[in-house]
Amino acid sequence: MTSSPGPHPRTTPAALPADPALTLRGVTKDFGKGVKGLDDVDLDLAQGSITVLLGLSGSGKSTLLRHLNGLHTPTHGTVSVFGESLRGLSGPRLRTLRRGIGMIFQDYGLVGPMSVLENVCTGALGELRGPRIGLLMYPKRVRREALQHLDRVGLADRAHQRADTLSGGQQQRVAIARALLQHPRILLADEPVASLDPVSAAQIIDLLRRISEEDGLTIVTALHQVELALDLADRVVGLRSGKVVFDRQTAGMSARDAAEIYESVATPTTQELEALTDMHSAAASSS
Ligand SMILES: Nc1ncnc2c1ncn2[C@@H]1O[C@H](COP(=O)(O)OP(=O)(O)O)[C@@H](O)[C@H]1O
Ligand SMILES: [Mg+2]
Repeated sequence: MTSSPGPHPRTTPAALPADPALTLRGVTKDFGKGVKGLDDVDLDLAQGSITVLLGLSGSGKSTLLRHLNGLHTPTHGTVSVFGESLRGLSGPRLRTLRRGIGMIFQDYGLVGPMSVLENVCTGALGELRGPRIGLLMYPKRVRREALQHLDRVGLADRAHQRADTLSGGQQQRVAIARALLQHPRILLADEPVASLDPVSAAQIIDLLRRISEEDGLTIVTALHQVELALDLADRVVGLRSGKVVFDRQTAGMSARDAAEIYESVATPTTQELEALTDMHSAAASSS
């Protein structure tokens, strides 16, 4: 190819903005009985960015996260991952797409009696197919890589310990190592620090930021502490009753903006109050 530009030089592909990692268009989730888990949500989340979803219990954070990896299908609207709509995807294509999306949870989701290393190895199950029981059932390259991820989260020395003997913060780091073994391009985290003491919570927040920077990983996480959200996020999206009520970049954010965020997530709507009441009565009847 010659390098002489014609009268209308074409933009090189590198100069084009990358597709957003995640796109939601008009996404509504109707749970029936007038409850909208999500209500007409439009969002574009940039590749490599960290977005924190803020909102009270019942505001729709988990529902939104579950739409991003196809665990929920919207009643209306579309969710796209790297420009590909999830609607109608099934079989191998959906599995491949899901493998690129790691997820961590408030309760870590580890198998307690299993060793730390084997828990991390289970992150490769989607790629390997078929059940594996016992560390030696995993190929050596998987075990070696699992150890590298454990080292990255600072727990290589715990590899052969039972997972349920670790502290909460350590268990969450194991869950992150397991997600990394999936080689995700997107990591979803649903209240990852809600069960942790402040010191362990801050360590997890630091770790999430570090892996996003090092791997170009796009992170979307639900949190309810505004201070942690502002520490971690490039962008905060506030939800109330399934609607986006604010959407701000954190760079250059003033104390006044932060105060407004506190204000707008602090007062529950009727739907959120009902969800809270339901949670309390469910807890009371199960105890
Ligand atoms: N599977 C479901 N069936 C019915 N209602 C649901 C379901 N999941 C969530 N909801 C309702 O949707 C709303 C949002 O819930 P959720 O996304 O769990 O909020 P958050 O994660 O912010 O606490 C709440 O009113 C909740 O009760
Ligand atoms: Mg939730």
